[in-house]
Amino acid sequence: MRTCRTEPTIKPTIFAHRGARLQFPENTMPAFRAACDLGADGIELDLQRTVDGKLVICHDENLGRLAGIDINIKDMTWRQLSELNAGYSFPGSPEVRFPSLEEFLSWFAWTSLTVNIEIKNSVFPYPLIESEILYAIDQYRLRDRVIVSSFNFDSVVEMKRLAPDLSCAFLFKRWPNRALSAALEYGLDGLHPHFLNMFVPGFVSRCRRHNIAVRLWTVNSPRVMRYAIRQGIDTLITDDPAQALKIRNESVKPSS
Ligand code: G3P
Ligand code: CA
Repeated sequence: MRTCRTEPTIKPTIFAHRGARLQFPENTMPAFRAACDLGADGIELDLQRTVDGKLVICHDENLGRLAGIDINIKDMTWRQLSELNAGYSFPGSPEVRFPSLEEFLSWFAWTSLTVNIEIKNSVFPYPLIESEILYAIDQYRLRDRVIVSSFNFDSVVEMKRLAPDLSCAFLFKRWPNRALSAALEYGLDGLHPHFLNMFVPGFVSRCRRHNIAVRLWTVNSPRVMRYAIRQGIDTLITDDPAQALKIRNESVKPSS
């Protein structure tokens, strides 16, 4: 049974969106390590799958922006992808590889971070990817430090069906109250709204009443960070974790 929180959330967690992407190419191991070094509580990353079945970390379905080559990840082999430079679009970056989920988890397992794995399966469906992700998480016994999210509602529901003890969250841009009703109906644990949804009257407090975690993206403005913290949201997903940590620590009084 869900418990109802009556006190404001005391200390929201700060997740580095695609790693510390202001310092290093997004969704790469250097960006993830830097987020950890900054003191972020968690990392948000994007997951896809190559044609030969490797789970790989990358935001865009097509590699034009990130690697300067017009090809979709779903049509490439892992070997082809691992020859590309994921730092192509990042000014001054040395060459860096697109990481596999396996590489990420083998590092992550030794940290105390939380990871939000966003399955990028709204454009291309990647059938059965949920069970493959679960298998990878279970290899390292990490269910208690992983949150799985997607804009694909059916995929989130499927993940929850496969692993009722795993934190599963629906990502969305609009219609927050509809998202909340669906989350409650399907027993999801969290909602990941675009930050503008927190201005919809009553939405955040309704989530809090139902013990649905609210993790907002992508919050980069100090004013919006402060407002969100006052609302009692659970997590800020941000491109600027250093700034968010500073604001969070200033806003929240240490507990006695
Ligand atoms: O997971 C939150 C956020 O990352 C969703 O949008 O496009 O940055 O993956 P996007
Ligand atoms: Ca994402």
